[in-house]
Parts: sequence; C-alpha cells; structure tokens
Amino acid sequence: MKRVLIVGATSAIAAACARRWAADGARFFLAARDAEKLAAVASDLGARGASEVIPFQMDASDTPAHAGMIREAFHAFQGLDIALIAHGTLPDQAACERDAALTLREFGVNGLSVIALLTSLAPRFEQQQGGALAVITSVAGDRGRPGNYVYGSAKAAVSTFCEGLRARLFRCGVTVTDIRPGFVATPMTRGLPLPGWLTSTPEAVAKRIVSGIERGADVLYTPFYWYFILCAIRLLPRAIFKRLKL
Ligand SMILES: NC(=O)c1ccc[n+]([C@@H]2O[C@H](COP(=O)([O-])OP(=O)(O)OC[C@H]3O[C@@H](n4cnc5c(N)ncnc54)[C@H](OP(=O)(O)O)[C@@H]3O)[C@@H](O)[C@H]2O)c1
Repeated sequence: MKRVLIVGATSAIAAACARRWAADGARFFLAARDAEKLAAVASDLGARGASEVIPFQMDASDTPAHAGMIREAFHAFQGLDIALIAHGTLPDQAACERDAALTLREFGVNGLSVIALLTSLAPRFEQQQGGALAVITSVAGDRGRPGNYVYGSAKAAVSTFCEGLRARLFRCGVTVTDIRPGFVATPMTRGLPLPGWLTSTPEAVAKRIVSGIERGADVLYTPFYWYFILCAIRLLPRAIFKRLKL
C-alpha cells in the first residue's frame, strides 16, 4: 500500500494521479491551501478506494509551515513512498513586466517554494534510503519565451535543482522525477487559446506520470511527444529563437 504525500493536492493533474493511486488502496497525506476543495478531493479519493486520507491546509508559499507539514506526514505513515509537488500558478506575464514585486511573488510560488519543499523532504528520504520525489515543472522551463519567461524561469530553476538533487539522492536509492507536461486542459489554462490537437486531459498525463514515478524516471515529458517538440525547440539557434513570437 503506497504512502503518498501530495503538495498542491487540489491541482487537476495531481488529483488525476491520486485517483490512480487510490484505486490501488494508497494512503494519502494531502496538502493544499483551499480547505473546501481539499475536503472534496479527500472524500473523492476515499470513495475510490484510498485506505486513508489525511488533509492538511497549507499555503505552499508559507515556507515556515513546510517543516511541520512534512513532520506530520512522515509521522502519520512512518515514512513515505512518494512525494508529489504539484502546486503552481500561471502568471500574467505582461503584468509581471510592469511589477517587480509580482514577478518575485510568482517566481516564489513556482520556484522558491518548491525548492524549499524539496530541501526539507530530501534528508527524510535520504534517511529512509528509498522513495520517490516527483515535481511537476513544465516544458516552459526548457527555453525562455517572451510570452511566459517568469513562469518558465521558475520552472527551469526547479528542473536544474532537481537534476543536482537527483544525482545526490541516487546513491541512496531515492528517485527524483521532473515531470514536464505540455498543454493540459485544467483550471490553470481555462480560457487560454490552446491548440486543441496539442492539448491533453489531466487523466491522460496522469497515466504517464504515475507509471513514470513508479519506474523512477528522471525527466518525464507528458504526453511523450513533447520530448520531440522540445528537442526541436532546443536546437533552434538563439539568433533565430529571439525573433520568434512565442
Ligand atoms: N495545465 C497545464 O497546461 C500545465 C502545463 C505544464 C505544467 N503545469 C503544471 O502542473 C501543475 C498542476 O497544475 P494544473 O494544470 O493541475 O492546474 P490547477 O488545477 O490550476 O492546479 C494548480 C494548483 O496549484 C495550487 N496552488 C497555487 N498556488 C498555491 C499555493 N501558494 N499554495 C498551495 N497551492 C497552490 C492551486 O490551488 P487552489 O486550488 O487553491 O488555487 C491548484 O490546486 C502546476 O505546477 C503547473 O505549473 C500545468
């Protein structure tokens, strides 16, 4: 029976992953900032077969609250098999360009809070000599685009952090999976003019995320074809890339 911690548990993608684990009778420690949505996710997982669900209200930007949350999660289950960090916001890039404080706030939620959580989780996983850390970053972190470089740079910071952390924890049997979704139809992207043929459902990406975490994948593009799209995008010379309106 898997013991799973999810931060940002009300995320549509995270909830879709949790439903898959629930079907196998997993035990959950769910952290999210909205108590009402959290209660709904918790009761849904209970109805779908979860053995135990412990909700914990926490704003992920509240870094001092992380230690207590992690302590409670480890204490509740005497260890964890999986910690999935899923929370995130999609900043208004134009507004960020006019407001340094907003830029830092958005970078804080998408980058610093995640790095803080990973820093506090790592020694616990190191100590138990096993388990899987997983973080939802984004394909947006692979290159800085004018349309969303505040979001993209925060995700890139997390991806680079994960790469180093993975090499550190590899020696003690802990995996670090950097999950990079492309476009997914969730509340975060509601109202955006996403190309339908390139847009997935939370359920579709969750299937790949859950199996990727299971096998300890390092970097997981989801759906898989984003790997090839990003390979091509990364190959574009900077002199051309900066001229593209992306
Ligand atoms: N959808 C996409 O196309 C896409 C693509 C690439 C990567 N991603 C990443 O996938 C992850 C999940 O997003 P999603 O698509 O599932 O969207 P979503 O359903 O809107 O989920 C975002 C979640 O983040 C939570 N959150 C935001 N700020 C928080 C904070 N300070 N403390 C705690 N929770 C906070 C939100 O909580 P509330 O419910 O309280 O607002 C919400 O549950 C995010 O990291 C996102 O960047 C999404």
